[in-house]
Amino acid sequence: MKLLLLGSGGREHALAWKIAQSPKIEKLFIAPGNAGTANVGENVPLKADDFEGIRNFVLAQGVDMVVVGPEDPLVKGIYDYFQQDSQLKDIPVIGPSKAGAVLEGSKDFAKGFMRRHGIPTAAYRSFNGTNIEEGIAFLESLQPPYVLKADGLCAGKGVLIVPTLEEAKQEFRGMLDGMFGEASATVVIEEYLSGIECSVFVLTDGKHYKILPEAKDYKRIGEGDTGLNTGGMGSVSPVPFADKEWMQKVEDRIVRPTIEGLAAEGIDYKGFIFLGLIKVDRDYAYAKAGDPVVIEYNVRMGDPETETVMLRIKSDLVDLFEGVAAGNLDQKHLEFDPRAAVCVMMVSGGYPQAYQKGFPITGIDQVEQGQSGSDTGTSVVFHAGTAIKDGQVVTAGGRVIAVSSYGQTQNEALVKSFTEAGKIHFEGKYFRKDIGRDLMDWNR
Ligand code: AMP
Ligand code: GLY
Repeated sequence: MKLLLLGSGGREHALAWKIAQSPKIEKLFIAPGNAGTANVGENVPLKADDFEGIRNFVLAQGVDMVVVGPEDPLVKGIYDYFQQDSQLKDIPVIGPSKAGAVLEGSKDFAKGFMRRHGIPTAAYRSFNGTNIEEGIAFLESLQPPYVLKADGLCAGKGVLIVPTLEEAKQEFRGMLDGMFGEASATVVIEEYLSGIECSVFVLTDGKHYKILPEAKDYKRIGEGDTGLNTGGMGSVSPVPFADKEWMQKVEDRIVRPTIEGLAAEGIDYKGFIFLGLIKVDRDYAYAKAGDPVVIEYNVRMGDPETETVMLRIKSDLVDLFEGVAAGNLDQKHLEFDPRAAVCVMMVSGGYPQAYQKGFPITGIDQVEQGQSGSDTGTSVVFHAGTAIKDGQVVTAGGRVIAVSSYGQTQNEALVKSFTEAGKIHFEGKYFRKDIGRDLMDWNR
């Protein structure tokens, strides 16, 4: 099979690494890819949302399947674009239709969907320019801290959590005044949830589903979860508090009602669903302390969660994709790797604020790397923001390199990733050395 993967980050390198291991793959293309994906497939100089360019490429090369990494092409309707084209309609796109991608593209829609299907999520209301005063009154009815969300996509920046009512009112007005452009023309105000977060990933053909290994990501730049939010500084899988009983609640109360809700609403969905969950630490109207509650839906895999989740899937991912495309995912086999996997993200100095690019990266060849072999203590280097300049791998983004590792225990995997990350060098490099530390009590 010839498969085209869209995207260019660490998530896509991890997907490409896993896809390339499938015996079904004759040729893997990545558009546009990065310096790392070039090692497992062939990079194609096309943007992930250049639908016409992708169309021409797919037809010229005889591509058999398209897998979409980031949300942007999905929200713009790449699935529908293929469906509506007589020459493309039989080429499966792994990713939801435009109607399905609204689960990520509009927080107001996602909240309404959960309410309609009885899926536990924070109490909320949505406001726009026509009911500002009601929004202010709603804020006054809540307890601090206050959670304000721009309805639309904001590259991960549209959520504000503010400590005081005065600031909340000010930020609310600012958002409606265009703080995030059109994306914040509607603002969701919701109840603050207290607890610990977990990312759960589902692959669905629209009717059947498989729950993939769960993961936890570390969003803040500073150790001890301090400082600014980033795209993600590391991840671990499995998540010790996501035990069998908890995952059963996730399946019964969240996954199944989500898949059934999509079908009931006539939404075509063949792809990944990423559930951003929180294990709440006190009782709410819709959940008891310890229960899972949905914070958000994404219609793609997480980054840097994919850099651990792919290590923990033993089965052939392309075989699972074929099940998604054919609507017989229930007949496919999903086996987890029992080992722990972790990812430590190396970032550019200054990130997530201004940073420089173009610094040479050295030492990647010093890392003890393996494929998905049986050895523990094996690492895999995934490129996130890299490029090749004059034959040399250079930094090309805020998040630069993800060092993922296996271990018999999470701690073993972490020690391995920290050690290997120490061998890779570029000017201004930084990584958090406390990934997974908050889970140590559970891991003991
Ligand atoms: P989102 O883009 O919806 O995932 O929000 C970004 C981050 O804000 C989440 O990962 C949480 O850490 C936090 N967050 C969002 N909604 C809430 C909430 N209702 N209560 C507490 N934290 C939240
Ligand atoms: N790691 C969070 C995300 O991919 O949105």
